[in-house]
Amino acid sequence: MLQEGGNAIDAAVTVGFTLAATLPRAGNLGGGGFMVVHLAATGETIAIDYREKAPLAATRDMFLDEKGEPDPEKSRFSHLAVGVPGTVAGMTMVLEKYGTISLERALQPAIALAENGFPVTQDLHRSLKFAKPYMAAHPASIATYYKPGGEPYQVGETLVQKDLARSLKLIAKEGKAAFYQGSIAEAIVAEMEANGGLITKADLVAYEPVIRQPIRGTYRGYEIYSMPPPSSGGVHLVQMLNILESFPLGEWGHNSAQTIHIMVETMKLAYADRFKFLGDTDFVFVPIKRLISKNYAQILRDKINLDRATPSKSILPGGKEFFESNDTTHYSIIDSQGNAVANTYTLNFSYGSQITVPGTGILLNNEMDDFTAKPGVANAYGLIGGESNSIEPEKRMLSSMTPTIVMKSGKPFLVTGSPGGSRIITTTLQTILNAIDHDMNIAAATNAVRIHHQWFPDELRVERGLNRDTFNLLTRKGHKVVLKPAMGSTQSVMHINGIFYGASDPRKQGALTLGY
Ligand code: GLY
Repeated sequence: MLQEGGNAIDAAVTVGFTLAATLPRAGNLGGGGFMVVHLAATGETIAIDYREKAPLAATRDMFLDEKGEPDPEKSRFSHLAVGVPGTVAGMTMVLEKYGTISLERALQPAIALAENGFPVTQDLHRSLKFAKPYMAAHPASIATYYKPGGEPYQVGETLVQKDLARSLKLIAKEGKAAFYQGSIAEAIVAEMEANGGLITKADLVAYEPVIRQPIRGTYRGYEIYSMPPPSSGGVHLVQMLNILESFPLGEWGHNSAQTIHIMVETMKLAYADRFKFLGDTDFVFVPIKRLISKNYAQILRDKINLDRATPSKSILPGGKEFFESNDTTHYSIIDSQGNAVANTYTLNFSYGSQITVPGTGILLNNEMDDFTAKPGVANAYGLIGGESNSIEPEKRMLSSMTPTIVMKSGKPFLVTGSPGGSRIITTTLQTILNAIDHDMNIAAATNAVRIHHQWFPDELRVERGLNRDTFNLLTRKGHKVVLKPAMGSTQSVMHINGIFYGASDPRKQGALTLGY
């Protein structure tokens, strides 16, 4: 798209539709997401919210069983788990407002890849093999993604998605109406009606993406633009940066015990506030101004013991074991005019609810699990939900997605973001700290060992590769340090002295950095 003379927005929308064909576990038409866009011509930076919404018939206690306890099967794997999708409305709106190419052109690569097929990668093969037991409940999912007979495609075999190609062509012809009013809408509603789902035609017709003011903060002379609610990402990214600004992290060194200790204590405070305050601002009041103010950061900073870990339970109560999915996806694009796009979107779990709408090739999300099923009880990411994120009709469920643009003197310096559920915010934070405090180039900033704490469970997660001495020093400070699998998968672009540098995270297969 860029080589053809399109701008970053054209490329972002094209990639968004294309990943629905080539990365079906996260790229999507049946999910939702967030995009932060910098427009070079006006100097504006805007946030596009195309997050899923609760259906009109959703109720606060819809995921509780007879005993009043949350039923994760219902909120994750049933037709009730599906939020009203936002991706098609979001992508088409952004293209129409800020792009230069036709919708037909943007959809062309996706249509060709769905119709003619593409070679199955190791990553696709493995994820489909893993998902098979979950997909098995849905014949249309098996028919779409597996060989006749139900076996996963082997690496190098061709995956053709004729139904998806037809849906994409309908969207190319009729625009978003095909999805929200036309035959795709009818197929979604029929699937819901036949299986106890809640989404109706009225839900689909009413869905609109929203252009929001991004969360804006500053950090050591850089400006940070990130996603506002219904994502918690931007608020807590800026909140953590504000607290960390008063510590000499660069001097202490990257991933030294002292640096990690302060980062972790900061993370706990931010995730405790996430529980207490965050939700969809169209429905609840979120004290954003205070949460991202430098004054509040100073108050929180004073709570940090410089030498000892503060137990999470003395910050606020909670805690549960959790299932994890990394299957959101992020991409970053800058064009030569200085337009920039950071886009993170998702179906929530890998392949979402695993429900494919028959005849459409479209997988549906299971984003309703990101709501608080019951205050104080954790969701799939172990994130404890508060009242602000309780279920209401047409409300958007709280997210952690953190598409972010860091600017220097009004120009994009770093475009970044990540998948990783609850770990998205801390992954994005570390990419920024690595670049600014530790002066790393974008490849080093991407590859460096990551850590994470989310208040509950009270454990400091570290990736393999953290120095054993550091591990021991942190344990002595009172942290429960646990070695866990790789976290996040950033796709970032850095712009220095007129040169663009990109880096794709080596933690996941199939990523690509491309420049020309
Ligand atoms: N579904 C994960 C998130 O939005 O944070």
